[in-house]
Amino acid sequence: NLPERVKIVEVGPRDGLQNEKTIVPAETKIHLIDMLSDSGLPVIEATSFVSPKWVPQMADQVEVMKGISRKPGVSYPVLTPNLKGFQAAVKAGATEVAIFGAASELFSKKNINCSVDESLQRFEEVMKAAKEANVPVRGYVSCVLGCPYEGKVAPGKVAHVAKRLYSMGCYEISLGDTIGVGTPGGMTEMLEAVSREVPVSALAVHCHDTYGQALANILIALQMGISVVDSSVAGLGGCPYAQGASGNVATEDVVYMMHGLGIHTGVDLSKLMDAGAFICRSLNRKTNSKVAQATCKL
Ligand code: HMG
Ligand code: MG
Repeated sequence: NLPERVKIVEVGPRDGLQNEKTIVPAETKIHLIDMLSDSGLPVIEATSFVSPKWVPQMADQVEVMKGISRKPGVSYPVLTPNLKGFQAAVKAGATEVAIFGAASELFSKKNINCSVDESLQRFEEVMKAAKEANVPVRGYVSCVLGCPYEGKVAPGKVAHVAKRLYSMGCYEISLGDTIGVGTPGGMTEMLEAVSREVPVSALAVHCHDTYGQALANILIALQMGISVVDSSVAGLGGCPYAQGASGNVATEDVVYMMHGLGIHTGVDLSKLMDAGAFICRSLNRKTNSKVAQATCKL
């Protein structure tokens, strides 16, 4: 029993680029975002309002937000770890934001320099300001299938943090396999636990593909009723605070699988592949998308 349509949340310009050592010019990021919106993607995570000392690649967030051509009907959320980030994001024209917590204490500390409880307090402040400004907020939970510092993560811990984010008003909770270690068995168990606390209609999956399990894990999520999938064009990405983790599952591969399953995405695969080719050329890098690598045609 699969959903009829799936909303793809493109995270390439943010998750995909945040880990790049060499600073990518804002102009390139802007062009990438515009190509992605032109391919029909409904949501494009554009940048992060985080500390430039922590993630130098995202230091041009204001320029990026001001430079993109906003396509009607497309949303361009940005990451905001605290009130300072939220205020700067709104000032730069953001109309949707995301807060990002974790199911693992050590990852929380390394990534946002506070405990899980402290992060939830900070997020409450962001939520309050967002409600006043009428800005929708998405909530991430990282390390849902494993943590680079703590190893195994209990599904109950994931469910607890997801529930807290949902209760404080996040309209969608994205469950992140930050280091791409999960397999379909663990995914099923984790989603069963989370869906006891948060309605499935408010859940998304965010799979990194380090161990090549992402598409299988996404299929499990679809079978369990989830219809929002995060992915990154050309499979770019990783997290600077999760050493060795590879990029998100490639958007091209997700779209190919969805369309093969008869699921509507609204995405034009050929335009999406052009966007992937553009960013790979700019980064002087080979694509991680299997679909983009394939030369045999049906
Ligand atoms: P901190 O050092 O504890 O912050 O960092 P602080 O409040 O003590 O402030 C220290 C300095 O940072 C001050 O500046 C603040 O003004 C500044 P100074 O006085 O030293 O010049 N500052 C800021 N500057 C710009 N924007 C802000 C901001 N806040 C404080 N919003 C902080 C705490 C959260 C800021 C830091 O740890 C940080 O920026 N972390 C972000 C890390 C990050 O972006 N990680 C990647 C994204 S998460 C991810 O990839 C996972 C995900 O994809 C899902 C998955 O895969 O699982 C979402
Ligand atoms: Mg990620």
